[in-house]
Amino acid sequence: MKTIAITGGAGFIGSHVVRLFVNKYPDYKIVNIDALTYAGNLANLKDLEGAANYEFVKADIVNAEEMFQVFDKYQFDGVIHLAAESHVDRSISNPTEFVLTNVIGTVNLLNAAKKIWADNFENKLFYHVSTDEVYGSLGEEGMFTEETKYDPHSPYSASKASSDHFVRAYFDTYGLPTLISNCSNNYGSYQFPEKLIPLFINNIKKNLPLPVYGKGENIRDWLWVEDHARAIDEIFHKGALGSTYNIGGHNEWTNIDLIKVMCKILDEKLNRKTGTSEKLITYVKDRAGHDLRYAIDATKLQNELDWVPSLQFEEGLEKTIDWYLENEAWLENIISGDYQEYYEKQYEQR
Ligand code: NAD
Ligand code: DAU
Repeated sequence: MKTIAITGGAGFIGSHVVRLFVNKYPDYKIVNIDALTYAGNLANLKDLEGAANYEFVKADIVNAEEMFQVFDKYQFDGVIHLAAESHVDRSISNPTEFVLTNVIGTVNLLNAAKKIWADNFENKLFYHVSTDEVYGSLGEEGMFTEETKYDPHSPYSASKASSDHFVRAYFDTYGLPTLISNCSNNYGSYQFPEKLIPLFINNIKKNLPLPVYGKGENIRDWLWVEDHARAIDEIFHKGALGSTYNIGGHNEWTNIDLIKVMCKILDEKLNRKTGTSEKLITYVKDRAGHDLRYAIDATKLQNELDWVPSLQFEEGLEKTIDWYLENEAWLENIISGDYQEYYEKQYEQR
């Protein structure tokens, strides 16, 4: 029996990782540590309520003492760290929040792990989940490899880059057994509707403007979230300690092409005349410091751990659109903010 901490498990990617681990490994106890910020939602894990090998702990990774107490209580064998402030636009308006959660929070977790493991690191593992944005922006050619020099541009990517450096520093300095993965843009169910794909699905459905930053020429490399969770599973169990793995879908789209495909699919699903939803496209002021292009070379992961994405993008996008159309109550609950009021009340009483 192993006890594994997954931080940020109530968020978008974290909820998929928790679900995969709880269902696939009945002999692991999975402890989901999440502060339930605006982005954390336990409705993302409703299907796991009552699972014998799952527990939720509401705690803030920025609070060092609280983290140590949680680690001391559960004596984790492994940590998969996803908790973060994750939205680039929010990092532009409030960078300090990103330093606290992404940098200080990560260092608190490293310290808590180092302390409870008391420098006896056998069969222990600290796995840090990071982003391709640490590598900066590509021109028309090339891809990010694990050797690409870090060159972050947004406060979000700078904070993630800093946290990656701390994880490597703990491996080099203290011998803490660590792993890092850097993944491209994820899409799929349970993504908070501030991010491009769920935001635009919701706006198309409601006939609201689709705010395209700049000319819509920026390129992102999209990966289905469940394929990211599968990659995390492979890396956690088979990755070479101290190393880094890039994860990506080989699936580059300009924003505007992607948005037009979404408009077309939704015209069909909502029984609208072809071209109706495209009329909602509205070009707005560009995001400050907007990275032009991300593209991941995931050859190392494929060669060493035999991982490849399972789903073609067209299929994944349609599945995702169907999920948001079918889960209107989940989306509306978030947009109205009802779920946050509920948490405030629920946890006040404890
Ligand atoms: P998300 O914003 O959907 O979820 C983040 C989760 O972390 C939420 O549940 C939130 O409540 C929790 N959290 C935030 N601050 C916390 C704190 N102080 N203490 C405890 N919990 C806290 O994020 P996501 O999109 O699921 O991303 C998860 C991780 O994966 C992040 O580390 C992100 O940098 C990384 N990542 C994301 C993408 C992507 O496309 N979304 C791609 C690559 C890497
Ligand atoms: O690359 C991985 C990263 O992908 C993750 O580390 C981040 O956590 C995640 O948020 C995501 O970052 P992006 O900034 O690429 O994702 P976002 O969905 O915010 O935007 C995708 C693209 O769409 C980007 O070029 C900006 C553009 N955009 C976004 C929004 C929200 C618009 O044109 N209009 C919008 O309203």
